[in-house]
Amino acid sequence: MAASTKVAKISSVFRNRLFKNKVALVTGGGTGIGKAITQELLYLGCNVMIASRKVERLEAAVDEIRTSIPGCQINYTQCNIRQEESVKAMVARTLEEYGKIDFLVNNGGGQFYSAFRDFNFKGWNAVVETNLTGTYLCLREVYQQWMKDHGGAVVNIIAEMFSGMPGMSHSGAARAGVENLTKTLAVEWADDGIRINCVCPGNSIKSETATANYGPAKSDIFESNLPTIPLGRLGKPEEVSAAVCYLLCPAASFVTGTTMIVDGGEILFNARWPTGRDNTKAYSWEDDCEEDNSTPKSKL
Ligand SMILES: NC(=O)c1ccc[n+]([C@@H]2O[C@H](COP(=O)([O-])OP(=O)(O)OC[C@H]3O[C@@H](n4cnc5c(N)ncnc54)[C@H](OP(=O)(O)O)[C@@H]3O)[C@@H](O)[C@H]2O)c1
Repeated sequence: MAASTKVAKISSVFRNRLFKNKVALVTGGGTGIGKAITQELLYLGCNVMIASRKVERLEAAVDEIRTSIPGCQINYTQCNIRQEESVKAMVARTLEEYGKIDFLVNNGGGQFYSAFRDFNFKGWNAVVETNLTGTYLCLREVYQQWMKDHGGAVVNIIAEMFSGMPGMSHSGAARAGVENLTKTLAVEWADDGIRINCVCPGNSIKSETATANYGPAKSDIFESNLPTIPLGRLGKPEEVSAAVCYLLCPAASFVTGTTMIVDGGEILFNARWPTGRDNTKAYSWEDDCEEDNSTPKSKL
């Protein structure tokens, strides 16, 4: 790594060494939200295996993180979660490297922006195979190869599809499937000592890689959601990571089958109380009131 490269400062609100001697497998752990999760787990003493398709991304992430967190235990393995043999190998490789898997974070995924009428069967399959079938394969293999006999904790990253997902119907259907699967497995796997939950980021967690996925025509895909986010700003990958760490840690020992939404209140956006204010400045109640400071201005 070039001497001039800036070293990211990693931090966490959780106690030091919280995940000492634990092992996590994080899919898509080399970029965006997955990288933030990986960094926080490592910072808290966890051993982490990251996995995705592009080796150069994985290598770059491992190099960068080893510089930011000297002595951390991170490794990578190439995996396409759409391919059964590749997923089997990823889980086997993690067990070979670390001897166990305490945590699985199903974060790898993605989609393209398109109206339902404009994509074909291949496009549908690509998104559903990645986000739903890929998650199924990772769950099945980690369960079969380790967790059914040893327990563990799982977090599935989904997306905000609770009111449909216009422009991403394929992903909405797949993520709803993952959320439902999570509820089922929370019950079926309870006796095996496995907790499983979802974290749902809002459509507002900006990173370079996440933005690049949608191409130049949609380079404002995250900012365009600002008017519907009550907290008035985009979210950070680290804010999703904190939710994942909570659900993996003993503080959540009685929490299973649920979904934690990390979206700045976007899911509650209501046209009767539009957040059409200037989101470049922080919200203040006075902004919405007449001069006597008592009557909210109507924006209807
Ligand atoms: N950013 C948001 O606002 C937001 C909102 C809701 C949900 N999400 C979800 O959160 C997750 C992380 O997204 P992000 O925003 O951090 O974007 P990102 O940086 O593009 O992360 C996606 C990761 O998934 C990996 N991946 C994609 N397809 C894969 C496959 N077939 N097999 C293995 N790995 C695969 C990618 O690595 P490779 O390319 O190397 O395979 C990449 O590391 C995704 O599931 C995303 O859909 C994000």
